[in-house]
Amino acid sequence: MTTALEAKNVCKTYVINKRQNNVLRNVNFTVREGELVAVMGPSGSGKSTLLYAISGMEELTAGTVEFFGTDLAQVTPAQMSDLRLDSMGFIFQQMYMLKNLTLIDNILLPAFQSKRNRGSARRKVVSAYAHELMYKMDIAELRHNDISEVSGGQLQRACICRSLINKPRMIFADEPTGSLNKQASNEVMDEIVRMNREGTTVVLVTHDIRVAAKCDRVLYIIDGNIHGDFNLAKYQGEQEAKDRERTLNNWLLDKGW
Ligand SMILES: Nc1ncnc2c1ncn2[C@@H]1O[C@H](COP(=O)(O)OP(=O)(O)O)[C@@H](O)[C@H]1O
Ligand SMILES: [Mg+2]
Repeated sequence: MTTALEAKNVCKTYVINKRQNNVLRNVNFTVREGELVAVMGPSGSGKSTLLYAISGMEELTAGTVEFFGTDLAQVTPAQMSDLRLDSMGFIFQQMYMLKNLTLIDNILLPAFQSKRNRGSARRKVVSAYAHELMYKMDIAELRHNDISEVSGGQLQRACICRSLINKPRMIFADEPTGSLNKQASNEVMDEIVRMNREGTTVVLVTHDIRVAAKCDRVLYIIDGNIHGDFNLAKYQGEQEAKDRERTLNNWLLDKGW
C-alpha cells in the first residue's frame, strides 16, 4: 500500500524569552494512503503543532516529513505552495471564510488560485464540481448565501467542500467538530468519513471520542510523543458506533486519558 505520509524523528522546539519548549520530541509514524487517522491527547500535548509540522505549515527543528515520497524540507517555497494548494486540504476548528463572499465563492477560491485551473474551460469544470460537493454536503441551496447567513454546521460543511475542491490527496483537520453541537458534529464527521471512503487520506485532531471512534486508527500523544497507536476496523455505520466508543474509551483510559 502507498505511504501517504512518513514522519521520522520529528522535533519542534519553540524558544520564547530564551526558554526552550520542546513541543514535539522525536515523533515517528506512518500514514498509509486511504487511512482515516485521529490524533488525540491532553490539551497542550502538541497535537496542533504536529498537524502543522506534518503538513509543511511549520518548519521542523529536526527530522523529516515525506508527503507521498516528497521530503517537504527539500521543496522550494513555490513548490510547497502548489503542493499545499493542489494536494492538501485543511479544515480548522475556527472556520476561516471570507466575509462578503458567498459560500460558493469561498469554496471556489482555492480552485481559482490553482495553476491547474487557468482558463474558462477549467473554471467551468471546477464550478460544476463545487456544486456537486455542496450538493453532497447538503448545502447546495445555500450557495449564494453570505457566510453570516448559515449555521455553524453548514459553515463547517462548506469548509469541507473548500478543502476538497482541488481533490487533495490528504486532508489535515484540527478539531473540525470542536465548535459544533452534537448533531452538527455528527453530520460533519459523516462527511469526513464519506470523503475518506472516496479515497482521501485524513489526519484529524480531536478531543471527541465519538469522532475518533469513526476513524480507523488513533494516535495518542502526550508531551510531544506518541504513546499509543490503536487500530480499529473501518467504521461501517451507526449500529457499531457505541461498541467502538466503548473499546476506544477503554484503551484511552489505559493511556491515562
Ligand atoms: N507558535 C507557537 N509559539 C510558541 N509556542 C507554541 C506555539 N504553538 C504552540 N506552542 C506551544 O506548544 C505546546 C503545544 O501546543 P499545541 O500544539 O497547540 O497543543 P494541543 O493542540 O495539543 O493543545 C504548548 O505549550 C504551546 O504553548
Ligand atoms: Mg490544538
